[in-house]
Amino acid sequence: MNKPTIHQANSKDAVELSSVCSRSFIETYEGKGKKRPKEMVYEYVRKKFNPKVLLEEINASPIETWVLVSNKKIIGYFKLIKEIPPDFVKNKNLIHLERIYLLKEFHQKGFGKALLAKAEERAIEMGHDGIWLGVWDENQAAIQFYNKNGFKKVGSHNWEFDYQGFHYVDTDDVFTKILT
Ligand SMILES: CC(C)(COP(=O)(O)OP(=O)(O)OC[C@H]1O[C@@H](n2cnc3c(N)ncnc32)[C@H](O)[C@@H]1OP(=O)(O)O)[C@@H](O)C(=O)NCCC(=O)NCCS
Repeated sequence: MNKPTIHQANSKDAVELSSVCSRSFIETYEGKGKKRPKEMVYEYVRKKFNPKVLLEEINASPIETWVLVSNKKIIGYFKLIKEIPPDFVKNKNLIHLERIYLLKEFHQKGFGKALLAKAEERAIEMGHDGIWLGVWDENQAAIQFYNKNGFKKVGSHNWEFDYQGFHYVDTDDVFTKILT
């Protein structure tokens, strides 16, 4: 395997990114937890990760999407979005790491750390003091990853999604990392 490279996503990446976002999300959440039925996961994927939506995000100025490429294929990505953290986060000058995902076969090989290092570099270059994020409180692997990488839990808030007349609510732990 060639050494993976990271670049900011461009319009040519939208279709392949759609497939990587969808696959990695389904691998992470399908069949997990009590309150996330399979159909809801698929509905979320259809809504959030279709190429049109991703193309809009790639071209939107408050959002940066970066992709990790190995052997000419996207294997992971992260998304930063200028979004003010929840009230209980004291430092308001943090950027939201909304997603950091790898395809399953590339987990635990150091690629997550490499993506995170780039996200942190970009956070500083964009003038932020650090990063905030929300992680589903049942996603123990990701929580371990954040703990190992210097993030601290500072609270929790609801993750909400409306699907076919049902309103789903889960708890996301909110983590921050100050970089300055
Ligand atoms: C979370 C994720 C990005 C981590 O990336 P990764 O490449 O697997 O992690 P790395 O190999 O870079 O590991 C970095 C550190 O985190 C720890 N870690 C990573 N995955 C872990 C796991 N499943 N359990 C325990 N520790 C873990 C590693 O032990 C490592 O610690 P070290 O620096 O002491 O060796 C990746 O597993 C993933 O894409 N998961 C599915 C999507 C997801 O849940 N994203 C987060 C949503 S909020």
